[in-house]
Amino acid sequence: MGTWDLSRTKHHVLICNGGSCSRQQADEVTHAIRAEIAHHAAEDRIHTTRTKCNGRCEDACVVIVYPEGTWYKNMTPESGKQLVSEHLLQGEPLQDQLTYAYHTDRFIPTGQGSKGILRNP
Ligand code: FES
Repeated sequence: MGTWDLSRTKHHVLICNGGSCSRQQADEVTHAIRAEIAHHAAEDRIHTTRTKCNGRCEDACVVIVYPEGTWYKNMTPESGKQLVSEHLLQGEPLQDQLTYAYHTDRFIPTGQGSKGILRNP
C-alpha cells in the first residue's frame, strides 16, 4: 500500500480488471503498462489503477486515460506498451483502438467500439 504524491502526475490510467477484461489478458496488460512506465522512469508522471468493470465489456480489455478522457478497446500487452510510449509520453493517442474521446462537454464515440445501450433511450 502506498500514499502517492500526485503533484507531478499528468495522466491517470484506469486498467479494467473486471471479469470480461480479465479473460482478455487484463493482468498481462496491467503488467506491460506498468513495466513500460518503469522502463521510461515515468512513475511520477503516470499513475495507474486496476479497476473493476467499467461497463464496456464488449470492448475488453478496456483502458481509460484521464484527464484526456480517452477510452481504448482490445488492449493487449503490446498495445499497452504503445499506449505508454506513444500516447502518454508523446501525446499521440492510439487511433486504431480509440473508442471514445472527450470533447467540450461529453464523450464522443469514434465508431470503433461496440455501440452499447443507452440507459434512457
Ligand atoms: S470487465 Fe472490463 S469493461 Fe466490463
